[in-house]
Amino acid sequence: MTTNEIYQDAKKVWNPTKMDYWEGLGVNIVLDKREGYVFYTKDGKRVINMHLNGGVFNLGHRNPEIIEALIQGTKQYDAGNHYFPSEVKNELCHRLLDSAHASMRYVYMNNGGGESIDSAIKFARYATKRTRVISMSEDFHGATGFAFMAGNDLWTDYFNTPIHPEDFTKIHRNDLDALEDVLRKEDTACVLMELITAGTGFQLPDPEYIKQAYALCHKYGALFIDDEVQIGLMRTGKMWGYENYGIEPDMIVTGKGLSGGIYPMSAVIMNDKAAAWLKEDGSTHLSSFNACELGCVVANKALEITTRPETAANVKMLTNLYKEGMDDIQSRHGVFMKQYHQMGVIMGIETNQEDGGVTLMKELYKRGIWAIRAGWNISALQFKPGLLMSKELACETLDILDSALSACEK
Ligand SMILES: Cc1ncc(COP(=O)(O)O)c(C=O)c1O
Repeated sequence: MTTNEIYQDAKKVWNPTKMDYWEGLGVNIVLDKREGYVFYTKDGKRVINMHLNGGVFNLGHRNPEIIEALIQGTKQYDAGNHYFPSEVKNELCHRLLDSAHASMRYVYMNNGGGESIDSAIKFARYATKRTRVISMSEDFHGATGFAFMAGNDLWTDYFNTPIHPEDFTKIHRNDLDALEDVLRKEDTACVLMELITAGTGFQLPDPEYIKQAYALCHKYGALFIDDEVQIGLMRTGKMWGYENYGIEPDMIVTGKGLSGGIYPMSAVIMNDKAAAWLKEDGSTHLSSFNACELGCVVANKALEITTRPETAANVKMLTNLYKEGMDDIQSRHGVFMKQYHQMGVIMGIETNQEDGGVTLMKELYKRGIWAIRAGWNISALQFKPGLLMSKELACETLDILDSALSACEK
């Protein structure tokens, strides 16, 4: 089938408006061959992936070591049984616990990030016997949430699950007074936060805000859930984003890159307090593919690669290279490019135009880069190289960005 035929068919059976959107922008991608940080479209166009599906392809497309681990895994494992333990599940728990601060005790695995956010909120509700969830208006945490509510009350009630809109309070980040006003009611189970939010184009937070928000959260007896689905797994230059802010979250939620780009996996890493439910009745929260054994095999390999010293060295090389390159580009393209944000290999480019992120996305795609505009700040673009990207490819992305910005200015 041609690209056009696939799009027309997808409009009938999959998602008509999404297809219209990409066609309208001329970014009508159908992925074909893919390797590392480059993919080819069905039309034979070579494209460098600077979106990475939010970090799913942190270690590249079809990473050969991940594929080999999966192939070897299939000789012994399948989905496993969520009721029973296994060595590969335990190994993944140990790897995740070893990667985090010392007070972390248990790990709960799911398939997607949204599921793990759901789980973390339930765990916080159980632990605190409170229901309120405070989150940041600028953040995104997934698209799950109704299934558990619709099920048997025995388990729904255990986690104090009923979803009442009034239990969800969204406040703007950097507003400590608003946060404290809500926390003072002492009915908050958890404060949930993306420390660096993707939706606005990775504007970097005020470190003092993070520290104080975290302190307030504990002062009023709530748990701090750190959503690391986008910023974890070495993307900031440290294993976990929170390490940059001197805090120790009660729960860390990870996903995307944990999959190695191959097998959907996510996890909640939690301390003793957050794990209270596990001490009472750990059979109350389950899902068929929890801690799926093949997924664990893949995630173990993804973590092993992510935590290698040479991976950290490559991230450092990329961080410096992009800092220098972006400073140079910024100095020559100030008309269109307002500023850029960077922490490690997480970058966001802010433009001076209301929909500049969309314009830049289109110009980049014409020149062979796929990078996406920010979700609710379309004046910005997310620009995300992977951990293992080579210096040569990174330099190519800077050259293409330079040329795309010149086109945007015209
Ligand atoms: C910060 C953050 N949290 C949670 C999620 C939800 O993850 P998933 O799409 O795997 O459910 C996403 C997805 O983009 C995300 O960016």
